[in-house]
Amino acid sequence: MVDFATTYLGIPLKNPLVVAASSISNHVDTVKQAEEAGAGALVIRSVFEEQIQFDQLRMEESLNIGAESFAEALTYFPKVEHGGLKEHLMWVEKTRAAVKMPLFASLNAVSPGAWASYAKQLAETGVNGLEVNFYAVATDLKRPGNDIERALYEVVESVRAEVALPIAVKLSPFYTSVVNVVSELEKRGANGVVLFNRFLQPDIDPDTETLVSQMVLSTPDEMRIPLRWIALLYGRTGLDLALSTGAHTGKDAVKALLAGATVVQMAAALLKNGVHYLSTMLIQMQGWMEEHGYQSIADFRGNVSQKNCDDPFAFERAQYVRLLLSQK
Ligand SMILES: Cc1cc2nc3c(=O)[nH]c(=O)nc-3n(C[C@H](O)[C@H](O)[C@H](O)COP(=O)(O)O)c2cc1C
Repeated sequence: MVDFATTYLGIPLKNPLVVAASSISNHVDTVKQAEEAGAGALVIRSVFEEQIQFDQLRMEESLNIGAESFAEALTYFPKVEHGGLKEHLMWVEKTRAAVKMPLFASLNAVSPGAWASYAKQLAETGVNGLEVNFYAVATDLKRPGNDIERALYEVVESVRAEVALPIAVKLSPFYTSVVNVVSELEKRGANGVVLFNRFLQPDIDPDTETLVSQMVLSTPDEMRIPLRWIALLYGRTGLDLALSTGAHTGKDAVKALLAGATVVQMAAALLKNGVHYLSTMLIQMQGWMEEHGYQSIADFRGNVSQKNCDDPFAFERAQYVRLLLSQK
């Protein structure tokens, strides 16, 4: 029997398969099923600041309308028809009460103060850690990249100052130097990084000449991007490395671990196959480990990282040049 046990952000997990922040956590029953199927941990979908700003705006509007009409109306509490912060916190608490596996809350804010404030409130729900989801599309032509990075560091510092819980920072792959950003995050008290967030790209329908914004799930090919960066980072950072994007099978999880991932997060594979698929992935991982004579995850984690693989240039430019020149 193989041993899947591992530690992520200082928290013991029974295995390295983590349900990624997604609509999977919209239903407590599904979260329970994920736990029964063997999930090592689960990240609850993010609370987004825009969602909360909308909530506050509506509340202020309602109070103002009431105040202008009659004084008693000040006691009127507007009905919130969408998920605001309070609803989200209640949801996280409800999920916490329903399962025993480690849970992570995720937040995505815009203004510096909001990050710390949401983090503090999420930390009080009893989750085991926080995922800071830095999903932002840089559209300002005048704003240089280092300014955006500085803002990220300030966010992480402000969250760190507010909560004692472990923090993982979920990054986009679009940094000039991913490795430098990871190293700077370590200095600022992060415990791990999630590589990477997957940007949903809008498409264009040429027939109707309109924009098409629809959710397209990842494919296994997309795993190569986080795989490379994890392989490059393994052994060079003290941060835990969570692979996110493109892991669809037990073998994909094995690949992530060979590159050096601490855990493997999955959304698309579980949305496509159902959360019970986690048990299939664990069987596939077990089969591979037995075939290769490994007893535990530590026996093979990082074996094909840049630090440990036969060809240290395989993850760098040299390999790219070699491949291009070898094409007839
Ligand atoms: C329906 C859906 C909802 C998602 N919601 C969130 C979210 O709330 N917060 C977040 O950080 N990522 C969210 N993601 C991104 C996933 O956590 C993950 O990073 C991405 O889907 C790539 O992983 P995958 O290839 O395993 O799907 C969502 C993804 C999907 C498909």
